[in-house]
Amino acid sequence: MTDVVLRAMRWWDIDPVLALEAELFAQDAWSAGMFWSELAGAGGPGPTRDYVVAEAPDEVGLAGYAGLAVAGDTAEVMSIAVTGAHQGTGLGARLLTRLIEGAEAFGCREVMLEVRVDNEPAKRLYARFGFQRIGVRRGYYQPGNRDALVMRKELAVRGDTTEVLRNG
Ligand SMILES: CC(C)(COP(=O)(O)OP(=O)(O)OC[C@H]1O[C@@H](n2cnc3c(N)ncnc32)[C@H](O)[C@@H]1OP(=O)(O)O)[C@@H](O)C(=O)NCCC(=O)NCCS
Repeated sequence: MTDVVLRAMRWWDIDPVLALEAELFAQDAWSAGMFWSELAGAGGPGPTRDYVVAEAPDEVGLAGYAGLAVAGDTAEVMSIAVTGAHQGTGLGARLLTRLIEGAEAFGCREVMLEVRVDNEPAKRLYARFGFQRIGVRRGYYQPGNRDALVMRKELAVRGDTTEVLRNG
């Protein structure tokens, strides 16, 4: 489904995003207020958020979305989701690529994320992108008392020649 288009999330996307949240995250779904707050951080003179949606032509609703928060030189994947009909088509990989490019554009040195220990598809996606497990947060997901893996991916900062020199 290569005709799926990625674009910046806007306030009018919040309702369809909430529908996707309910489908995919059930009791862990974010509220409208959380998305309003995140989008407030995506605009203005010093943005700290980067949210994107995926739209398929001729389809009602969204195919997916993803969001990133930045603090200093660390970016955090806040959310990434692909609706059931589009899973397994490479859209998750496109969204994650877009977030990593966003983190690089912010000048970040690393991207962090949390993922439920039992979320195998997401863990495979992150591993494919070079995220490494650096810790566990016990009981991070409530209710349900599920643990989270904390994962990290180091970024090559633009203009940083260390990697090039090291690799000869
Ligand atoms: C995790 C998630 C975002 C992945 O999205 P996705 O669109 O399915 O991801 P991709 O299509 O890029 O990759 C999924 C699989 O499809 C495969 N794939 C990708 N493109 C493909 C194609 N054209 N044909 C066949 N398979 C393909 C990938 O190799 C991958 O296989 P693997 O899981 O065995 O490694 C999605 O499962 C999701 O939204 N889950 C629910 C919400 C969630 O848990 N979010 C993460 C919270 S931390």
